[in-house]
Amino acid sequence: MASSFAVCRCQVRGGGRLLRTSLKLHTSLHTSAGTNVVAAREERARKDVTGQRMKHTDEKDGHKSLYALQAERQGQAERSVLISYHSRINEKKFLKYLSKHGDINKYFFYESYGIYAVVEFGSREGVASLLEEAAIPSVNHEAMVPFKSRLLSLRNLGSADSPNQQSGPQCQPQTTVPINQLIQTLSKEGSIDQQVTSLTEAYQLTEENSRLRFLVCSLLKDIAAAYFPECTVRPFGSSVNGFGKLGCDLDMILDLDGISGRKTKMPRSGLSLEYQLKRANSERSATQSILSVIGECVDQFGPGCVGVQKILNARCPLLRFAHQPSGFQCDLTANNRVAIKSTELLYLYGELDPRVRHLVFTVRCWARTHGITSSIPGAWISNFSLTVMVLFFLQRRSPPIIPTLDHLKDLAGPADKSVIEGNDCTFVSDFSKIQLESNTETLEQLLHEFFEFYATFPFSKMSINIRKGKEQNKPEVAPLHIQNPFEISLNVSKNVNATQLERFVALCQESSWLLQQSETSTPRGYKEGSTPTTWGLATLLLPSQVAGIKGRKKRRLEPASVRIKGLLESLKNNQNPPKKS
Ligand code: GTP
Ligand code: MG
Repeated sequence: MASSFAVCRCQVRGGGRLLRTSLKLHTSLHTSAGTNVVAAREERARKDVTGQRMKHTDEKDGHKSLYALQAERQGQAERSVLISYHSRINEKKFLKYLSKHGDINKYFFYESYGIYAVVEFGSREGVASLLEEAAIPSVNHEAMVPFKSRLLSLRNLGSADSPNQQSGPQCQPQTTVPINQLIQTLSKEGSIDQQVTSLTEAYQLTEENSRLRFLVCSLLKDIAAAYFPECTVRPFGSSVNGFGKLGCDLDMILDLDGISGRKTKMPRSGLSLEYQLKRANSERSATQSILSVIGECVDQFGPGCVGVQKILNARCPLLRFAHQPSGFQCDLTANNRVAIKSTELLYLYGELDPRVRHLVFTVRCWARTHGITSSIPGAWISNFSLTVMVLFFLQRRSPPIIPTLDHLKDLAGPADKSVIEGNDCTFVSDFSKIQLESNTETLEQLLHEFFEFYATFPFSKMSINIRKGKEQNKPEVAPLHIQNPFEISLNVSKNVNATQLERFVALCQESSWLLQQSETSTPRGYKEGSTPTTWGLATLLLPSQVAGIKGRKKRRLEPASVRIKGLLESLKNNQNPPKKS
């Protein structure tokens, strides 16, 4: 392989690009309603949102910065509306109705407590015109808070649509396939590398899900704008770092920097005005007050926002709530700039080499299946910690697959300089400055080596450190020590107890052993139409046979034959996976 960099150019993840020419649905529907031309155009519009991930080939080196990607997505979100849709309403009629307000760039449907449509207009005027027409519902026995937003409901006041138009629109999936189905899919693949790729494809965020995440941020921004008209609400964490799985939570940050960061020029008159502001005792208490009032507003007036909790005394104060129309569990923070930098760093690592994302997805899926990680906070390893562990492992390959954070800092230019609350968060943003070494290891090798690496890692003495790319002596007594990449005195896995670490290590031993066995690591030659035999990566996702290790989550039982075979194997091996010689 000439360089890993070249490979990654061809496989850059897509975030979608706006159609260069917006579809003139308005015109076409008026001139050719009911003809094949309309159908073809509708099909094109749908394909643009449901088609393959598009590549960022318009960017230098085939990479798009996270900043550029976010700006594009935010623009799309601001031109979009979310409409609760009735499956009996005819799709053509719906589009024709909407297109009276402006050109439609893209649209798609999905299901979450009913069917919803996300519709992106060509311009914000389209949204404004549509909202102008929307009415405040009148319900006799209830009082409504007349809070207008871009979350709307569609009513069919006309005659019922004809039966052949009642099957409902085609909905885009917003959740991952069940684990048993994934195991079957993986078992049909011909190599472990293909299995890893297939798992990533099945789990990663889709174009539509990504758009929906930005739309929810945009709807939240509209609420917060009641207090701070110039604010923005941006996603961070796995929604945008490239490692998000369908169904992951939506981490958002209320960004007020655009308001406070404005520099005033010295006017010629020698006079200047400034706003009178209320002072808070500290930045933290200002953040708490802001989140508290916005939490109140989201709770009282935010359409679709339910179960609002104000978690203001946490290290990082936040609002937690469910956004029912999207099905997202949301965390809204403010003044959380280090988390934004962590997101940028993870995104950068994920873009450098496609093997990074594949391995992270696979390890995250494996860990969740065995109850090593959980969506509930507790004494277990978080997805963020696990991702850092994968990155560290990739830095330790020979030659390394990804550079150390210190190296990325050395490559930084003046514009990359970033110091947040005394922490140096500087690292290079220009991908073209990063030279990767020529490591040609396969995904199968890497997966096996990952398990081997952590099955034997000296956790009791050493700390994981992606800044140096080398294990360091542990500075404190904690079962697992992973240095926070930017707040270097902190341990990101401080919460992890010894039992959870032991479970992780035992599962790594077991998985490493399973990958060495020819019965489990050899493709079974799947024939179309037959039931696939579980093998390779799929075997690692079956319930563990290691004594004393049970996933916390109850799993649906595998077919009896599979369980019996597993039990026999355990007995044969005295329930102890042998160590690699
Ligand atoms: P999932 O939500 O589990 O899919 O992954 P996530 O990466 O989004 O994790 P999570 O929602 O727990 O956290 C959101 C983001 O906050 C992470 O991606 C990190 O950028 C940041 N973060 C989370 N935990 C820590 C931590 O302990 N230290 C630091 N510095 N950042 C963290
Ligand atoms: Mg998250």
